[in-house]
Amino acid sequence: MEVVITTADEIGDLIADEIAALVASAPETVLGVATGSSPLRVYEALGRRVSAGELSLARARAFTLDEYVGLPAGHPARYDAVIREEFVARVDIDPAAVRGPDGDADDLDAACRRYEDEIRGAGGIDLQILGIGTDGHIAFNEPGSSLASRTRVKTLTAQTRLDNARFFDGDLDAVPRHCLTQGLGTILEARRIVLVATGEAKAQAVAQLVEGAVSARWPGTVLQHHPDVTVFVDEAAASQLELSDYYRDTRAHRSLVQ
Ligand code: GLP
Repeated sequence: MEVVITTADEIGDLIADEIAALVASAPETVLGVATGSSPLRVYEALGRRVSAGELSLARARAFTLDEYVGLPAGHPARYDAVIREEFVARVDIDPAAVRGPDGDADDLDAACRRYEDEIRGAGGIDLQILGIGTDGHIAFNEPGSSLASRTRVKTLTAQTRLDNARFFDGDLDAVPRHCLTQGLGTILEARRIVLVATGEAKAQAVAQLVEGAVSARWPGTVLQHHPDVTVFVDEAAASQLELSDYYRDTRAHRSLVQ
């Protein structure tokens, strides 16, 4: 696992550069996109490149990680709406090529199976963007999630509902109790994973993710089993890493072996 400690702005540009290089070699790239504030700078950086004519996502496809259960079409906090506003609106990707699990389906289990089939049918995800929750969840895989889980219904923790109440005008009662989420096993099948975490509130989750024991208690730790992950953090999110000097040193001398 590679750890890059830098500023939030540089994180957006570094990941956008990587996506631009990927799309240049394979225009039909399949991206995995995440909601939350962490990936916003990536979407802004991608938007700048598309506006400048340096990048086109016109032939790319994208899959979101998760969705609340029971929010009707048109609800502004639905992840489908959020991803359209934060990502799709900034770039030139075909809106029909951006898919998410249907949290408003009558048969949620069938919707989960359908979503797994869609991802498989697209050939899998080439590059997955992830954030991390303060309780260590990735997508909506809360503590206790099976490390081999697939897309399914999950119950949100009290902490996650509290963290996300800001997207519901601070009204905790309005935050759904359930969600559909890609499983940890699903996420691990992405060929490349970049995770973004900024701010002090993420420091413990990041330290566990990078240096903790692999455990369902901190679901992000499953990424230690993936061969191609980079964790991008700012100084605050890196503040509980024991080996931060080593990560800085590794990055400073990377050009010597590339
Ligand atoms: C939600 C999403 C996660 C995201 C997390 C952190 O719970 N389901 O995919 O990583 O929020 O969000 P933020 O980046 O806003 O801290």
